Amino acid sequence: MPKNFTTGYNIFFAALICVFWSILVSASAVSLKDRQEANKQFDRQRNILFATGLVKADEDISREGMIKKYEEKIRPYVIALKTGEVQKDIQPASFDQRFASSDASLSTKAPDNAAKVARLPNNALVYHVVDGEKVESVVVPVKGMGLWSTMYGYLALDADTTTILGVAFYEHGETPGLGGEISNPKWTAKWVKRKIFNEQFEPVFAVKKGGAGSVAEDPHNVDAITGATLTSNGVTNTIQFWLGESGYGPYLKRFREGGR
Ligand SMILES: Cc1cc2nc3c(=O)[nH]c(=O)nc-3n(C[C@H](O)[C@H](O)[C@H](O)COP(=O)(O)O)c2cc1C
Repeated sequence: MPKNFTTGYNIFFAALICVFWSILVSASAVSLKDRQEANKQFDRQRNILFATGLVKADEDISREGMIKKYEEKIRPYVIALKTGEVQKDIQPASFDQRFASSDASLSTKAPDNAAKVARLPNNALVYHVVDGEKVESVVVPVKGMGLWSTMYGYLALDADTTTILGVAFYEHGETPGLGGEISNPKWTAKWVKRKIFNEQFEPVFAVKKGGAGSVAEDPHNVDAITGATLTSNGVTNTIQFWLGESGYGPYLKRFREGGR
């Protein structure tokens, strides 16, 4: 090291480099935030469209095409989870359900449940699929524990609120090829036309080890994923919890009775 580089100079120089890079990293994080938010929003929209079957997973459609379809067909609402009432004063676009679920002032402790949902947001998102003024179907977000991770998905139901239009699990940490198959469209295609509720509107839909029968013979079950019984059970628990009384049950009852 040249003699005229004193310790003080070295410390000053190192500090200068640190300040320079931290400004650069912070500036790029701030400038990318909007783009990250837009990508997150697009991903949610895409998965809602997959769940409804309005867009197929293997369909050749541009990002702009998907956004156009979403805006044409999907109407989001925020509801009070306990009563199912639409909260007209809360803008769906700015409502963050994940944040609401973890914030003590915006959520309550969930009753003990097999899906291992810890807290229930006071308000929650629902999506209507519309054809002009007519509401054709309804989509609800679901989340629950698999074997390794929290699984997030959207479940789309026909206007009778019991017949499944489709499901899309878009975020989880289950093992690829085993529990990770929950996001394989070949598996989720088996859900279509199956029923969530029994005649008393209790959620009885289940992922069945050993295989389910045809839609006509075994409407309340779908085949479990081979080698992934624990993730499959997590999916059953998740669906039964969110479609039950603590979840979207009150909203779906209101919807069936025409209160939208
Ligand atoms: C490395 C590893 C990863 C696994 N990942 C999963 C998983 O994501 N989901 C799951 O249900 N089971 C997973 N299993 C298997 C479970 O431990 C358990 O054996 C399985 O769920 C039982 O399913 P089966 O009755 O269909 O065989 C994994 C096992 C190993 C060794």
